[in-house]
Amino acid sequence: MLLEKMLQSQGLGSRKYCQQLIKSGAVQIHGEVVDNLKYKADLKQLEFSVYGESFEYREKIYIALNKPQGYECSHQATHHFSVFELFDEVLMNRGLQCVGRLDQDTTGLLLLTDDGQFLQALTHPKKHVAKVYQMHTADPVTAAQIAQLEQGVELRNEAGVFAATDVQSLAERQLQMTVHQGVYHQVKRMLAAVGNKVEQLHRAQVGQLSLSHLDNLPQGEWVYLSSEQIVLAKIREN
Ligand code: URA
Repeated sequence: MLLEKMLQSQGLGSRKYCQQLIKSGAVQIHGEVVDNLKYKADLKQLEFSVYGESFEYREKIYIALNKPQGYECSHQATHHFSVFELFDEVLMNRGLQCVGRLDQDTTGLLLLTDDGQFLQALTHPKKHVAKVYQMHTADPVTAAQIAQLEQGVELRNEAGVFAATDVQSLAERQLQMTVHQGVYHQVKRMLAAVGNKVEQLHRAQVGQLSLSHLDNLPQGEWVYLSSEQIVLAKIREN
């Protein structure tokens, strides 16, 4: 691929700006300056640097963030920070998007990508992958509430019934459950529907990918997913 096009695809800036970078000698490929605009980059295992900052060529990006509280999944966050503030301009230039949404006060595994097909595969209403949530509740969780969550509850203005699987009480006021859709405030609304209230919510797993596969990534930090981890995230059922 023509070097300027490769740089642009990686979020380094406009085509014209990338040409300037090349002409000024700011770009190195595998440690050698390349200032020839006609240079064609071999994309296989390509490592390059721009003004000394190293990059690895990635056709698409797949990121796992352990989302902290107080961050919204929108570009124009109004009352809180935006999760996109946790990423640099080069990544943002690539059109990074959240794969589904977590509420501002929810913590845990949030995937981000610039791959529209991956986004669609994980969020399309007919293809929702299972997600595991852990929560602290206002009141002790009763056996009747667990049974109701497993049987399914109705949510206002949503068609159908919303049931959770693998509902487990972790402690008196701590619950873990797996949900299979992704409607607005789903977990909080499901707990409200059985007469309880979520006080703290954390997502531990998407598909078969859990934070424990990511060395228990600290809150506020992110990593690129390996190809095996991308496959795990796409597995639909537990
Ligand atoms: N369900 C919720 O209620 N909130 C989230 O952030 C995710 C799922």
